[in-house]
Order: sequence, then structure tokens, then C-alpha cells
Amino acid sequence: MRPATLTINLTHLANNYHLLQQQAGNAEIMAVVKANAYGHGLLSIAKALYQVGCRSFAVTDTREGTALRLGLTSDAHITLLSGIFNIDDAQQCVEHQLTPVCIQYTQLNMLQEAGFQGSIWLKVDTGMRRLGVNNIAELTHSVSQSPFQLAGIMSHLACADTPPHPLNQTQFARFQQIQSSTHAPAYSLLNSAGLIAFPQYTYDIVRLGLALYGIEPISTQPLGLKPVAELSSQIIQIQKVKQGESVSYGASWMAPHDMNIAVVALGYADGLPRLLSNKGKACVNGHLLSIVGRVCMDYCMLAVENDAVVEGDKVVFFGEESNQPSANHIAAQCQTIAYEVLTNLDRRLNRIYIGENHDE
Ligand SMILES: Cc1ncc(COP(=O)(O)O)c(C=O)c1O
Repeated sequence: MRPATLTINLTHLANNYHLLQQQAGNAEIMAVVKANAYGHGLLSIAKALYQVGCRSFAVTDTREGTALRLGLTSDAHITLLSGIFNIDDAQQCVEHQLTPVCIQYTQLNMLQEAGFQGSIWLKVDTGMRRLGVNNIAELTHSVSQSPFQLAGIMSHLACADTPPHPLNQTQFARFQQIQSSTHAPAYSLLNSAGLIAFPQYTYDIVRLGLALYGIEPISTQPLGLKPVAELSSQIIQIQKVKQGESVSYGASWMAPHDMNIAVVALGYADGLPRLLSNKGKACVNGHLLSIVGRVCMDYCMLAVENDAVVEGDKVVFFGEESNQPSANHIAAQCQTIAYEVLTNLDRRLNRIYIGENHDE
């Protein structure tokens, strides 16, 4: 078996959940497990969160929602953040007790046609300029006349990870105004960064993804979260290269002197960003080694300077130890965000679940 592995620590997940619940006070956590739980594995993550008390989950659509419903106990609330797109989706909501987030009348009509009698969220746009109900008062009224119930009203912050950004205050003011002019059982505004930066706006439910997976959403305000995922593989060959010889496709890197190169079984088809070519680092036996040459589909190469490494040694690309790179660190090197690094791992890695909540 190829040694390319994502190790998921469910004890860390549970600790993060408890830490975030403290931060959220009386507000309930809706665990955002869309995109296969940000690459961590939908059912294993949801079951572990369920075991520590989480009863509310968010996925993107009926495909993810149905998979979750079939794998999880029936008293969990499953919200579809992207709502429904057609009548078939509406029927899935009926069949699997899914709670769609709605933004327009056509969705309400489809639900009604499908005989839906569950609950829905309404989403308002307070400044993100992505999705939202245009006239919240009218839609809330329509829901009150329909056979289904209103679960709540939600909105989403565009700049939660940049707390001083003025758009945050604009969105708070608009959401506050919506709250005071509507009657809904619950209100929800904050994601992970929002909870850390603005705990005074938790309302009833906070929708948390990134922080549950142990990624600090705001590096200047660390909460002490522990990374849940570790990306690792093994050295499968040590190559001797002569000064001036090049390594990997395109011959983009040349050995400055005679040295060893460690070939590692992890490449971009596993989710290791190709942008780490000649830039990234990985940790072997506690030492950081540089990725040299281009990252290939199945392999990457590390420069071995004076380090004693041998074939079979474990190589950590990101993990929990302070001397290992973090997902945030890799994302910064690739000019992207940890969300993209994590969701790109949803490919062909071996997944190993460890920790006290593992129930498989
Ligand atoms: C509507 C909505 N709410 C909450 C979240 C969770 O965000 P985070 O992972 O930053 O906590 C997302 C994630 O993209 C989202 O789209």
C-alpha cells in the first residue's frame, strides 16, 4: 500500500469542539461538514462530533445531506447550506428530513410541491453579495402560511477573518435590524473566524467549520486549537546526485553540491500543492527539509543536507507539532487559504482515524 496518509485525530476534534463550545457560550454549534468534512471524512467526523454532543450539522447539498443522514442517527439536524436546486432535491429533503437554506420563492414552491413539512432556514444577504433573500419580511410571512416551519434566519460575514474591516460593522448593523424586525426561532451569523473575533454576536447558532478541524482562523488570536489532520508519507528512495545535476520535471532545480535527495511518495494527485515546488518544506525526524524540483503527480523530492534520513522514514507535510508546517503555513506559501489545501486532500490518501472517539 502506498504510504501517502491522512491521519485524523478525533481526540483533537473533540477537544476543539469543547473549546469552541466554551467560546460560543449558550449558542449551539452547527458543525460544518460539507466537502467531505473539509477533506477529513464526512461520516467519521460527524459521528465523532455526535458522540461529544453535537446535534446540528451543515453540508452543502442533498447529495452530502443524504449520505450524512444515512450514516448518522436520526435526531441530528442536517442543514443544506446551498439549499435545493430542483424538485428532486425537494423530495430528498422530505425523504431524509433535511433542512434546506432557502433564498427564493421558487425553492419554497418546489418544497410545497414535494409535500415537504419540515423546517427551512432563510438566508439574508447583509453585505457578502453572494446569496440571500431579497425581501425577508415577505418570505418569512410566506413560510408562516406554508406547511413547513422556519428554523431560523442566517447571514454570512464576508470579512470575519479581518476583524477591523468596516464591512463587519455594516453587516452586524443590518443583521441586528433584521433580527428586530422579524420573528424567527433562531438567528445565526458567525463562522469560525467570526466566533473568535466577535463572540458578542453569537446569536443562537454559530456555524463552525475550519476551527473544528483545528486551524486557527485568526493567527493573531489563537484559541489553542489542535490540528485534526496530519498529512504524511514515507521516503521510498534516497538518490545520490552530483553537483549541477537537476531534479524532477523541467530541471528547475540543480544540486549546489554532491548530495542526497529523498524521494517521497506524495504528489499533487494526493493534494500536495504543486505550488510547493522549490518552495515547501516537510519534516523528517524533527528536521525541516526543502522540497526541491517540481512536485510530481505521485512523488516529491527533498534535499538531504546533513540530516541522517533513510528509506522508510516518515515525512510530515503538515501536522500538529510546532516544528512541522501547518495547513495555514502551506496555504500562505501557495497564496491560498487552508480551506483549499484541506478540501484538495479529498482524493486517494489512506485515511487513518485515531483517538478516543473512533467508533469504526
Ligand atoms: C454559509 C456558511 N456558514 C459557515 C461556514 C463555515 O465557515 P468556517 O469554516 O470559516 O467556520 C461556511 C463555510 O464556507 C459557509 O459557507
